[in-house]
Amino acid sequence: MNANKTMRAAVATAYGGPEVVRVVDVPRPDPGPGQVRIRVEATTVSAGDRRIRALDVPGGLRTLTRLALGWSRPRQPILGTELTGRIDALGPGVSGLRAGDAVVVMRGASLGGHAEYIVVPAAEKLIPRPAGLTVGEAAAFCFGGLAALHYVATAGGVRAGEHVLVNGASGAVGSAALQVARALGAETAAVCSGANVPLVTALGATRVFDHTREDFATSGETYDAIVDCVGNAPYARIRGRLRPGGRLLRVYAHLPGLLAAPFQGRLGGHRVVAGVSTERTEDLLRLAEWAAAGLYRPVIDSTHSLDDIAAAHARADSGRKRGSVVVTLE
Ligand SMILES: NC(=O)c1ccc[n+]([C@@H]2O[C@H](COP(=O)([O-])OP(=O)(O)OC[C@H]3O[C@@H](n4cnc5c(N)ncnc54)[C@H](OP(=O)(O)O)[C@@H]3O)[C@@H](O)[C@H]2O)c1
Repeated sequence: MNANKTMRAAVATAYGGPEVVRVVDVPRPDPGPGQVRIRVEATTVSAGDRRIRALDVPGGLRTLTRLALGWSRPRQPILGTELTGRIDALGPGVSGLRAGDAVVVMRGASLGGHAEYIVVPAAEKLIPRPAGLTVGEAAAFCFGGLAALHYVATAGGVRAGEHVLVNGASGAVGSAALQVARALGAETAAVCSGANVPLVTALGATRVFDHTREDFATSGETYDAIVDCVGNAPYARIRGRLRPGGRLLRVYAHLPGLLAAPFQGRLGGHRVVAGVSTERTEDLLRLAEWAAAGLYRPVIDSTHSLDDIAAAHARADSGRKRGSVVVTLE
């Protein structure tokens, strides 16, 4: 490989299983005005990556997704929604950043993190790497944290003293949602399988439902907010679990659920929130403050090399990952 002109990257050659992802040499990008190039140290295979790779999108959104992301394969073949690394080149007009700075970056649907280098806007969704995190934790800082912050705080309006239940609490979003709710001063309950009870208890859940033995929807207990990261808690099933003024925060919802959300719950004095979460630099900075205060730390499921990225996708496909699947590029 010519280290100056090419780089290694994992590319999705088609929509399909983990085997469609191949590690190949591709041109190394150069930063333009207002951009920086980052030498990627670690990234994740997030739920977003695996959904795009597999074209596994909420029911009713497949055609729209093909139009947006590419008809027969992803138009941006290098997946990767979040990453950490060090700035190695600055484009014209960039100030306040230097070569060598360690950063974390949320790419979201712009993708591109599964490569040795990436060029990103210097001023968007990029913050200094929070101190005290491992490189793997820094790689997993954005995806779950931003979705959790959007649903629990921004859209969900959770306040100190409220009771919040997180369904799917051991996943990347759920484990972050537990921590965000706790950081806001809420009391938390969690739904996961038995093996993950110690994890969610360590994250502050004071009541845990093992979904293989107990259904929170028939428990009789009530909450100010229910965060559904699994997609099996539609309003009709769980409305009895919401207190007056309660919110159902549907991180995962199919198209009918997305369309119905604004109209559901009103008669019952509830609110249902669904849709794509916001991704803002200010929210990354808020998460970084919580990380510095010991209130937010990404949970790592497993760590893989770039050459092993198909295995990382397979793990993300399992539906059983605990937190995030990290891929290292060092
Ligand atoms: N709206 C948005 O903008 C947005 C943003 C980010 C993510 N999302 C979506 O949010 C969802 C969650 O993302 P994620 O990254 O957290 O996924 P994930 O990490 O893959 O979630 C895996 C976790 O789900 C748990 N789980 C599986 N079945 C369960 C059940 N029946 N009851 C309770 N928990 C169950 C598993 O726990 P056990 O093994 O213990 O069962 C596992 O720890 C995905 O569908 C993703 O696409 C949406």
